[in-house]
Amino acid sequence: MPRVLITGKVPSSVVRRLEAHCEVDMYLGDGPIPKAELLARVAGAHGLLSLITEQIDAEVMAAGTDLRVIANVAVGYNNVDVAAARTRGITVTNTPDVLTEATADFTWALLLAVTRRLGEGERLVRSGGWTRWALDFMLGMELRGKQLGIVGYGRIGKAVAVRGRAFGMRIAYTSRTPQLLADAEAMSVDQVLATSDVVSLHVPLTPETTHLIGKTALTKMKRSAYLVNTTRGPVVDEAALVWALEQHLIAGAALDVYEREPEVHPGLLPFENVVLAPHLGSATVETRTAMADLAARNALAVLAGEPALTPVP
Ligand code: DGY
Repeated sequence: MPRVLITGKVPSSVVRRLEAHCEVDMYLGDGPIPKAELLARVAGAHGLLSLITEQIDAEVMAAGTDLRVIANVAVGYNNVDVAAARTRGITVTNTPDVLTEATADFTWALLLAVTRRLGEGERLVRSGGWTRWALDFMLGMELRGKQLGIVGYGRIGKAVAVRGRAFGMRIAYTSRTPQLLADAEAMSVDQVLATSDVVSLHVPLTPETTHLIGKTALTKMKRSAYLVNTTRGPVVDEAALVWALEQHLIAGAALDVYEREPEVHPGLLPFENVVLAPHLGSATVETRTAMADLAARNALAVLAGEPALTPVP
């Protein structure tokens, strides 16, 4: 039977699916598997189910000389050295589609929280600082009639747009392959930044998108606009964001992802107009189970000599 290493806990239904065809070794420790342990345990494994907390680099692949498939339990696969895998003939897969709706929902949770000052209000109530209702108290921004700018119009960006239309927002988007859409306007990144009331980031992390939102980009945004990031932390230059908030160049930001997770730039913490979540975009029971299950099915397909269901492009 082929051997599969899982780098962190996954639901028992997924382990059972794998165990029907493979010998399974699952890391059960708290937190990410230490690198030395990963290197030791990947030796002799034919399949690897990896979480985004692990860097699956050339060193790991060199230790896993029998590896045939790396099934990343995430749609983003910037933690896997895909070029190194290709050189070794290892198939890399990800988990698109199954997390689209959950991630779009959570993007909207952040968008609403930041524009309606939910975090700030909750902190006030819990601290006992709320003393009275007033007509002009803690006013936020109405969404109807405003422009939602979506940077990266893939599956998740489009699902965020669907929700935006339901809130009465106009949709503008950037895409490498702009389409003629009646209900969304294709724009350059600069145009989206300059004209949107909310900018939501949905590009994958690549060398080109690293620090896409830095000082220059933030300066282009409206002072009344909000930034939402549920894709990957390094797409935003956190130090530049702190600077932009200090200069009141934007109205606020809501982040689910960070440059050096789980570290958060300390300069972000004092801002009442910043909402901070601990990378929860796809975190529902249903979606996380579906992600792990899709990764398992990808691994099993490759180990059976069949094409992967969702190989990375
Ligand atoms: C992904 O799938 O890329 C998510 O960030 C993991 O939750």
